[in-house]
Amino acid sequence: TVGKSTNIVWQKCSVEKIDRQELLQQKGCVLWITGLSGSGKSSLACALSRGLHSRGKLTYILDGDNVRHGLNSDLSFKAEDRRENIRRIGEVAKLFADAGVICIASLISPYRKDRGACRDILPEGDFIEVFMDVPLQVCEARDPKGLYKLARAGKIKGFTGIDDPYEPPLNSEIVLHQNGGSCDSPSELAEKVISYLEEKGYLE
Ligand code: PPS
Repeated sequence: TVGKSTNIVWQKCSVEKIDRQELLQQKGCVLWITGLSGSGKSSLACALSRGLHSRGKLTYILDGDNVRHGLNSDLSFKAEDRRENIRRIGEVAKLFADAGVICIASLISPYRKDRGACRDILPEGDFIEVFMDVPLQVCEARDPKGLYKLARAGKIKGFTGIDDPYEPPLNSEIVLHQNGGSCDSPSELAEKVISYLEEKGYLE
């Protein structure tokens, strides 16, 4: 079809993912952090990167907010643009995982189907979903960027959790609960994720 890539052939190289993993002593994978705005995704991503880096593991963060400054600066927050945002980040994360890197993707990714599509393009076991299970009231009380306030005042339309949907995951590999009472710090949460990676052999 016109406008689509046609007549293309996959190019292979004798240096493969397995060779890069051996070099790095780790398994390339994607830690996909999903949750509401203000649920602590970016803080967890950063704590994870610090924790793994200090163990000699190579990570790279793809943060929705940051990627929207460049690669995805053409995308809005309507459903089809969120889907495209997630699709592109999924494809980039796949390249990082193939490079042997532990890629930490941190974005709201509100739709189950869109997250599922990212899982489906990755090899089995390479997509690890981390759900920041934080109630809306807690996120809204934190309101680190003042966006909930603007959304409630009608100054931002289609804000996730207010007048736009968030579909919580049903089968995440890791669920991190924060209920507002005694919250774990980002580094405590990161340790839980790192223990999972250790147990499952991603760090060897
Ligand atoms: S998505 O849904 O996955 O495409 O979103 P993402 O790329 O993670 O971007 C979310 C950040 O964009 C800011 N923002 C909004 N969030 C939700 N809804 C609306 N309408 C919106 N407009 C701007 C907000 O700062 C989000 O950052 P986080 O880190 O999630 O708080």
